[in-house]
Amino acid sequence: MQSNKIDSYINKKLKEISKKNQLRKISDVHRKPKNNITFKSNNIISFSCNDYLGLSLNKIVINAAKSATNKFGVGAGASRLITGNNYLYSLLETKIKNLKKTAACCVFGSGFLANIGVISSLMNYKDLILLDELSHASTFLGAKLSGSSVIQFKHNDMKDLEEQLYKFRNKHDKCLILTEGVFSMDGDVSPQDKISVLKKKYSASFMLDDAHGLGVVGDGSGSNSLFRKKPDIDIYLGTLSKAVGSYGGFICGKKNLINFIINRCRSQIYTTGLPPAVLAASIKSLEIIKNNKNLIKKPLENAVLFSKIVGLKTPVSPIVPILIGDENKTLNFSKYLNRYGYMVGAIRPPTVPEGTSRLRVAFNSSHTKEQIKNLANLIKNKLKIYE
Ligand SMILES: Cc1ncc(COP(=O)(O)O)c(C=O)c1O
Repeated sequence: MQSNKIDSYINKKLKEISKKNQLRKISDVHRKPKNNITFKSNNIISFSCNDYLGLSLNKIVINAAKSATNKFGVGAGASRLITGNNYLYSLLETKIKNLKKTAACCVFGSGFLANIGVISSLMNYKDLILLDELSHASTFLGAKLSGSSVIQFKHNDMKDLEEQLYKFRNKHDKCLILTEGVFSMDGDVSPQDKISVLKKKYSASFMLDDAHGLGVVGDGSGSNSLFRKKPDIDIYLGTLSKAVGSYGGFICGKKNLINFIINRCRSQIYTTGLPPAVLAASIKSLEIIKNNKNLIKKPLENAVLFSKIVGLKTPVSPIVPILIGDENKTLNFSKYLNRYGYMVGAIRPPTVPEGTSRLRVAFNSSHTKEQIKNLANLIKNKLKIYE
């Protein structure tokens, strides 16, 4: 009998991952208000969460989810095209459309599902995808699944993007430029105004993954609102699981794009609809985001205060990376902060490129000045030892 090849593959890979200090484990976490979490039986303060506005624990949002469960049950029961399309979907899609000022919107099971499904249904082997080298794993996977020629351009480097377009655009049928609004591990913003010019010049389309931009930068409607002249985005992807505090993803664009997705995008068609509670929570959160301009400013203000104390450059989003480089050193730094009562993520490859391991400090609206100052001073003093 042949040996079990998958089993030996798994074991070999796990050994390799361990050797590189990249083995991860999932631990139980109990998140509570005001950034308190219980982790490995310790009560600590979290700076690791993407719930930028604290809406996942907001009482009004929780009550909206409870009422929807009482009224409609726990699960959707089927895919949206069958009987899983609770009317809350259309309320939610209308809210998003109004916020984003686009013609149409389609809510997905998650941002990940939206990325892999939309990219792979729109693009094929005759096409060209140009994506920022620091794009999210779901963008890379969507591009790979499409079978298109995929070229990474240097992070936020418009000269490199144009060079690639100049060299390769004419050899392909359709062309899609993909980037993030606010980069998830770097916290910087993509030059959407310049991409809008290039996409026109080279007859390409522009898809923006704004998972970390919605609700926390600009006027709250997303990172495109940071630009004086509105960027020309053909496909806008957002998530409902970060600043919105709930779960799900969405695509905004023209009516024909959304119609195509409903008919051809497999990660939209062949999956069960979102639970009604999740839809109701997202609707309530979006109302809070729309009506509470002070709340949406808080995460960035907190990031700015922290960066000032540590001596880092002024951030443009609530995500502040502290580059360490070495994986072990990064892990030890994170453990050190843990011992002092703070949770800050140690981000290592493959999430970020080799040699760029970092602490990722994520700020939200409910971090207190005291929490921020304490963490900043701890980090500042530890960094001095590395100098
Ligand atoms: C940039 C980016 N895009 C997409 C996703 C996926 O979104 P979701 O968590 O809704 O699946 C994430 C989540 O980590 C992300 O950071």
